[in-house]
Amino acid sequence: MAFKGHMRSADLPIQHEGFLEHKRFRWANVAILLAVVSIIAYFAADVEPRPNGGTWIGYVLGTVSALLIVWLSMLGLRKRAVKPGRWSLKGWTSAHVYLGAALLVLATLHTGFQFGLNVHTLAYALMVVVIVSGFFGVYYYAVIPSRMSDNRGQRSQAELLEALHALDRQLRESAQPLDQVYVREIKRSIRRTKIRPPLFGSIASLKRRCPTERALKRMQKAEPNAPDDMRDAIKDVTAILQRKSALLQRTRQHIRYKTLLRLWLHIHVPVTLALLIALAAHIISVFFYW
Ligand code: HEM
Ligand code: HEM
Repeated sequence: MAFKGHMRSADLPIQHEGFLEHKRFRWANVAILLAVVSIIAYFAADVEPRPNGGTWIGYVLGTVSALLIVWLSMLGLRKRAVKPGRWSLKGWTSAHVYLGAALLVLATLHTGFQFGLNVHTLAYALMVVVIVSGFFGVYYYAVIPSRMSDNRGQRSQAELLEALHALDRQLRESAQPLDQVYVREIKRSIRRTKIRPPLFGSIASLKRRCPTERALKRMQKAEPNAPDDMRDAIKDVTAILQRKSALLQRTRQHIRYKTLLRLWLHIHVPVTLALLIALAAHIISVFFYW
């Protein structure tokens, strides 16, 4: 993810400026200003009994909110436009995050706190889902990349998987001198071990049921009573299984992180589409029925 900007100069330490603090929080300030002005306008507006979507202040807040939503939805297009525009992608993302959060204030004031079981409230609810998922995205982008590189060291996912296959090959070879029951157990563990953690299950529970762990425990139990000519082979196999177990842990964690980094976008983007449709229905219906 191209989120961290790098400014490098010969005698300065490397400075990182993430998208959140882009241009000294310019967009955070714009967003706060927008929210404060809206709150003042809402309470200062001379509307009886209280401002809602159908009053002049309601129309202003609704129009600004709708324009913001359309603009925020365009981030996907901007991301895919290869040509660098007048604004950097980092600037766009920064504005996106803060103005998106300000939208929560603007749109809520627009509704005049009137909610019901209707398409207007549906649009509002979808907007809240998009914004909340956005917060998760920002959190994941802030914490996951560094955890990911701590977890896998310098290795890529392909290298992690290749290292696991290499251990499997060593296991097959080192298990050969063992009794048939053990050889079967090892082969079974190689065939049946699942690497990918389930979407809604913990890595720990996958580990508890893992055939590699089972084989490892069995070998550890077998070692003290093993005949002398077997002991070395058992020790070898146990050591490889231990390395495989540790590597499995890292690989599963890596896949889990990657999934989290993508998963929230699978909510954020489709719900944006639903929001645009519901919003269009809201605007069209208030003009027809109001
Ligand atoms: C061009 C933009 C918009 C226009 C012209 C507009 C217009 C209106 C009007 C006229 C009302 C009053 C309806 C009534 O009192 O029965 C209203 C209410 C409402 N609007 Fe909007 N709106 C716009 C944008 C938005 C946006 C962006 C949202 C949120 C995503 C939104 C959510 C709502 C909700 C929840 C209500 C309250 C509905 C109720 O009373 O049950 N509107 N809007
Ligand atoms: C109603 C408001 C919002 C709409 C309609 C919206 C829409 C979108 C869209 C369409 C994308 C492009 C995703 C893609 O194609 O990869 C996106 C990305 C993103 N949004 Fe939002 N968003 C909204 C609010 C927010 C908020 C409030 C936050 C954070 C607090 C946020 C954080 C993000 C982030 C971090 C990205 C990813 C940028 C990237 O991967 O480069 N969004 N949003």
